[in-house]
Formats: sequence, C-alpha cells, structure tokens
Amino acid sequence: MIRPPEHFETNRLRLRPIQENDALAVFEAWAASPLATHYMNFRRHESFSATEAFAARCVVCWQAGTAFPWAVVAKSTGNLLGCIELRVSPPKADFGYIFSETAWGQGFGTEAASAVVNWAIAQPQIFRVWATCHPDNMASVRVLEKAGLSYEATLANWEARPQIDESAGPSAVYAITKSAKRSAP
Ligand SMILES: CC(C)(COP(=O)(O)OP(=O)(O)OC[C@H]1O[C@@H](n2cnc3c(N)ncnc32)[C@H](O)[C@@H]1OP(=O)(O)O)[C@@H](O)C(=O)NCCC(=O)NCCS
Repeated sequence: MIRPPEHFETNRLRLRPIQENDALAVFEAWAASPLATHYMNFRRHESFSATEAFAARCVVCWQAGTAFPWAVVAKSTGNLLGCIELRVSPPKADFGYIFSETAWGQGFGTEAASAVVNWAIAQPQIFRVWATCHPDNMASVRVLEKAGLSYEATLANWEARPQIDESAGPSAVYAITKSAKRSAP
C-alpha cells in the first residue's frame, strides 16, 4: 500500500493529518459555511457533531489508508486554513480540497494542491492524478490548472451536490498523467 507523507512543508504552509481536536477549527473555518461548501459533494455541517464525526473519520482514514486528509496550516500564524485529501488507488490517485473563505485568493489552494500533486505523480506506481469540480467552480478550476492538471472531459450527472440541490450534477475532470512503461514484447 502506498502511504503519502504525514507532513508536507511548502513556502507558507504546513500539511499534517487532521486530528479529532481540529473539529472546532474545521467547523468555524469552512464546514458550516454556505459559501465554502456551496460546490462540495457533502452536506454543509449544521451541527458541530457533524464536524466531530468528520474529524473522527479522518483519523480512521489515515489508520486504514483509505484516504489521507491533511489539515493545511499557515506557518506564520498556526491557523487552520483548509483541508486537502488524497485517495490512492494505483495506478491512479485523486484529491479534493476546501479552504476557509477568509484564506481565499492568496494562492494557498494552489500551494497545497501542488505539494500533494507533485508528490503523487512522482510515485512509481501512480500514473494519473485526477480531480473533479463543478464546471462553474472557476476558483477550483484555476487551482487544478495551476497545480499542473489539464481538462479532460465533463461528466454528466457524476455526483450530487446537496447545497445546489442537485440529485446529480456535472463534474469536470482534470488530470495529470505520465506514460506507463510498456512491458517487453
Ligand atoms: C477552490 C479554492 C480551494 C481555491 O483556493 P484559493 O486559495 O483561493 O486558490 P488560489 O488563490 O490558489 O487560486 C485561485 C484562483 O482562482 C481564481 N478565481 C477565484 N475566484 C474566481 C472566479 N469567481 N472566477 C474566475 N477565477 C476565480 C483566482 O483569480 C486564482 O487564479 P489566478 O491565480 O489565475 O488569478 C477555494 O475557493 C475554496 O475552498 N472553495 C470552496 C471549496 C471548493 O470549491 N473546493 C473545490 C471543490 S472541487
């Protein structure tokens, strides 16, 4: 099983596993925010207990290796800015992210995504790193492009987004790929 590093450090950010005691910061930063969760495929947290369950799930995911959700923390302040999660399923890996709206527009999304994407595509067993976003989510589109992914296709009815009241909605697929070695004839 491929396990990514628990810690990444970039110019301005530290990435580390989300812990159960992050729940309050997560709730206040983005999980309860109508704006931040608008395009997400999970229901906005209306109670703190939903965020506590999310944080507990993050710990279990790290233990089981089913997903790797990092807290994105500003080095300068120690504040929790966002979350980015990688799911590894060789030969591919996919990821998603959400940041507090107070952190938007400062390049943090791109900085965190680039760190995770660069690690993932460098792994010998991973040939494709991909993500989806709602086609109207232009900030996310830009993050994916700046992290090195390219648009591939838009999939109709790929997933529901509770905040948009869709039982199924379109997703644009972005990916970065590298060539797989061919076995000798
Ligand atoms: C998507 C998200 C992570 C971006 O984070 P961020 O830290 O603001 O991203 P960056 O600052 O690195 O880059 C944002 C880019 O989007 C652009 N952008 C932002 N809003 C935009 C809009 N409405 N239309 C077009 N471009 C927009 C910015 O100009 C910037 O691009 P540029 O560098 O070419 O100018 C953040 O907006 C977020 O958390 N959104 C809510 C959750 C979400 O949608 N997650 C993704 C689900 S697929």
